Amino acid sequence: MSKNPTPLDRVREFEREQAMKLSADERPLFHLTPLVGWMNDPNGFCWYKGQYHLFCQYHPFSRQWGPMHWGHAVSNDLLHWTYMPCALAPDTAADAGGCFSGSAVETPDGKLMLVYTGVQPAGTFRRETQAQCVAVGDGKDFEKSLLNPVIRHAHLPEGYSEFDFRDPKVWREDGVYRMVVGNRHEEKSGTVLLMESKDGLDWHFVTEIDACRKEYGRMWECPDYFPLSGKQVLIVSPQEMRAREEFHAGFGTVCIIGRYLKKDRQFVRESVQPVDHGLNFYAPQTVLAPDGRRIMIGWMDNWETCKEAPRRHPWYGQMSAPREVFMENGRLCQRPVKEMERLWQDTVIHEQVPVMEETSLPGVQGRLMDMTVTLLPQGSACRRFTLHVAKDAGHYIGIRCDLARGELVFDRSHGGSHRDIAHTRHVIAEVKNKKLTLRLLMDKESIELFINDGERTVTSLIPTPLSADGITFAADAPIALSVEAHHLA
Ligand code: FRU
Repeated sequence: MSKNPTPLDRVREFEREQAMKLSADERPLFHLTPLVGWMNDPNGFCWYKGQYHLFCQYHPFSRQWGPMHWGHAVSNDLLHWTYMPCALAPDTAADAGGCFSGSAVETPDGKLMLVYTGVQPAGTFRRETQAQCVAVGDGKDFEKSLLNPVIRHAHLPEGYSEFDFRDPKVWREDGVYRMVVGNRHEEKSGTVLLMESKDGLDWHFVTEIDACRKEYGRMWECPDYFPLSGKQVLIVSPQEMRAREEFHAGFGTVCIIGRYLKKDRQFVRESVQPVDHGLNFYAPQTVLAPDGRRIMIGWMDNWETCKEAPRRHPWYGQMSAPREVFMENGRLCQRPVKEMERLWQDTVIHEQVPVMEETSLPGVQGRLMDMTVTLLPQGSACRRFTLHVAKDAGHYIGIRCDLARGELVFDRSHGGSHRDIAHTRHVIAEVKNKKLTLRLLMDKESIELFINDGERTVTSLIPTPLSADGITFAADAPIALSVEAHHLA
């Protein structure tokens, strides 16, 4: 380390020391965790010079949220990640209160530009404020602009907040930079604003893309905005939402599908749906892969439940599996990226086995698995089907399907938690074309469930001891089911 180490040098030195102590066995197989310490939102998800880069909200020095840094990892396949040195530390006047969430974009001259929220700490009579900053670099080292913060409250029309103004998502289009950024308007609550710049430094306000109008939570965090199959998709993560329609209460994810009328600078809503229905999914961010797929990763957690979650490792926090998003019947759907197949090891297939009393199936057991269960209820009197995973004498995670109501309950109440936090979610799961499919990705301490080819997803952490690896099937009347289980390694 140099004689006068900067705060970032010190973090990088700390990371080098820690990296030697930590083993990969103590981590999930393919979900990204922070090198050490705490992680929340995915940031700066991009494809740059032949690799995926994923940055994250990061506090290396403890397993609790603290002064925000940007952690960094790279990958060729979105499943095997290599840690890079910490990218940003809160070390300037513009971001002394934290380098909050943001995104990354390649500049026309081949550099990588990070755009993030700088938090300015409170002075004696002021609350802390939020503004947008940039840092440009080579994919490893980034230099913060001396002009930071490049977007201030003064750039916005009246009524918008300087205290809740964060999480820029930037892209290049028509030879300019554009970004969406979250703000809380004094009357309209959460809003998403569109800004534009020729050089990434000098920005101006274009329009308000959409506003919450107190219908979907309070502040809208971490917006993402992209075209998909002829539609325009807006994703936001609202704080403190009331339960309504298919949305659960608390911190959630909202996907608004619509059209953008460029001439009128107007986004027209067509439909609204949750992004994920599980207990742990927040602040997702997408990237456009070189082959045209739109790939999304979320923070596999939630501000409410993370406080009570066990700290079993020297790190805390996981990203979700990378999912390809696609449009079907007017809905945003998701499937695990096809790269998942590279992790498939032994495959066990059971075709059309009749099941009633609780039973396990040969070879179908474990906590590292990509398993698809297809229920074939035709001609059966079955109304209730129950799948237990991560099971032993004292634990199980329940997935109960009420075929008559077309509803599924994900239940981790018996998963080993000692805390009185939310453990169940109800989600629509209907029999379609004579079947109901449940695809489960299990990676040690998490389950991601894709219902009916990703029409709805349920993402949850599970605190269950890894030795609980049983899987059973049961129904209230005989039903045929097929199972395709790929063990992962
Ligand atoms: C969302 C969020 C962002 C903010 C970041 C701080 O989870 O609250 O709005 O930038 O986390 O870590």
